[in-house]
Amino acid sequence: MATEIRWLGHNAWAIMAGKHRLLLDPFLNDNPLSPKKADQVEADFILVSHGHGDHIGDTVEIAARTGATVIGIFEVCQWLSAHGVKNVHAMNLGGSYPFPFGRLTMTLALHSSSMPDGSYAGNPCGFLLAREEGTVYFACDTALFSDMKLIGAVGLDLAAVPIGDNYTMGPADALEAVRLLKPRRVVPIHNGTWPIIAQDADRWARQVLEETGVEALVLQPGGMIVL
Ligand code: NI
Ligand code: MN
Repeated sequence: MATEIRWLGHNAWAIMAGKHRLLLDPFLNDNPLSPKKADQVEADFILVSHGHGDHIGDTVEIAARTGATVIGIFEVCQWLSAHGVKNVHAMNLGGSYPFPFGRLTMTLALHSSSMPDGSYAGNPCGFLLAREEGTVYFACDTALFSDMKLIGAVGLDLAAVPIGDNYTMGPADALEAVRLLKPRRVVPIHNGTWPIIAQDADRWARQVLEETGVEALVLQPGGMIVL
């Protein structure tokens, strides 16, 4: 069964995992890069990496319309439940679970997290999605950390890493992340959304290939990778 991974700008993703429709960090309506609005997407599951507005995005609205199950860290799920989301699946760092769309592991992320109203949101996270066709690591919002080497040790077919700098690691640290993760392919994210995180993604991709041999794919918003 195919796995189609579509980038909607920033760290928003729409994933077709066989017949299962997943969204990750559906920040759509206020995302200047997103080709889709919140009322134009479907979902069976919504993965949320942390509580910041540019990640939780339109989760509440989309979950209410679609009935999707939202997967996030315990405190994010608690907040979502209190805000009317009916189906949540809480996890925590280092935990994995065999969902119908594949085995999902909640990984470390070095960042901060709070909900848009200032509520406590627990720790931020990344996600590792393992399917028959391959394994994908979504670093989400994070600084560089040496344990990326452990995440990469499982063998990654694809990694999505932030390069925007300022709020997350920038291009130089993201290059180091590629060295630690050793994925087969890598996609730069969390850049170009606003001027403060504008980077030359094409230049970064060339540098990654030259210095690590890893194929770096620069997606346009709406662009897709097939595992
Ligand atoms: Ni953030
Ligand atoms: Mn962010």
